[in-house]
Amino acid sequence: MDAQDAPLADRRLIVTAGGTREPIDPVRYLGNRSSGRMANAIAVAAILRGASVTLITTVAAPPDPRIEVIRVDTAEEMDSAVRSALPGAAVLMMVAAVADYRAAAIAPRKLKKGHALRLDLVPTVDILRGLAGDPIRDGVVVVGFAAETDDAGANARRKLREKHLDLIVLNDVSRAEIGMGSEDNEVSVFDSTGLVMHISRRSKALVAAGLLDLVTARLPAVRVSPPR
Ligand code: CTP
Repeated sequence: MDAQDAPLADRRLIVTAGGTREPIDPVRYLGNRSSGRMANAIAVAAILRGASVTLITTVAAPPDPRIEVIRVDTAEEMDSAVRSALPGAAVLMMVAAVADYRAAAIAPRKLKKGHALRLDLVPTVDILRGLAGDPIRDGVVVVGFAAETDDAGANARRKLREKHLDLIVLNDVSRAEIGMGSEDNEVSVFDSTGLVMHISRRSKALVAAGLLDLVTARLPAVRVSPPR
């Protein structure tokens, strides 16, 4: 493979996948509808372009032995897995739908029905916001994914700014035929200057290819840190 066939050779990508699961008791958790399909498609597309890939996931990974898979459940576990994987990585793609809240206390035994139940929730760690301004992410191209139903463009651009992202991929999750759990996706990608690409509805594999083109264009021409 030459550089044209393997534009990501010698680069390591971290991709996060799925929805985090925040335990309530030994058998229940707070979760969301993220299937991991978009992230898995990105992981496979990156492998085909010569990258090494660390997939930090709450769901099943693609059956490709070249992908390093790290299984996690909670936002906190995902945060520490991302931080451990970051040194030497070229790209972080935070595709995962990270829960925003977790139970303030996890019941040690299964909660029984029969009475009204109130759950006290507290915010989870915001992984991307925690990395903003942290030297651990210096030189890493960081891509966020915004799942929105309302004021999509404005919200995505606000997250790009607040989380110090290089790119944000906006997914309108109010449309059933695209996004969470579906085979296809349609996204708009923003950087700090505004909209940089709209990828119209197509398979998640093709969306992944478009996103990797954008990411590759943002990598320094010469690799600055060695892969692991
Ligand atoms: N994200 C994160 N840590 C969180 C929540 C989200 O790192 N605790 C990341 C997601 O992986 C995604 C980006 O932030 O790449 C935007 O996630 P999104 O759920 O759209 O936004 P939130 O910041 O959670 O805001 P809100 O839920 O209010 O829309």
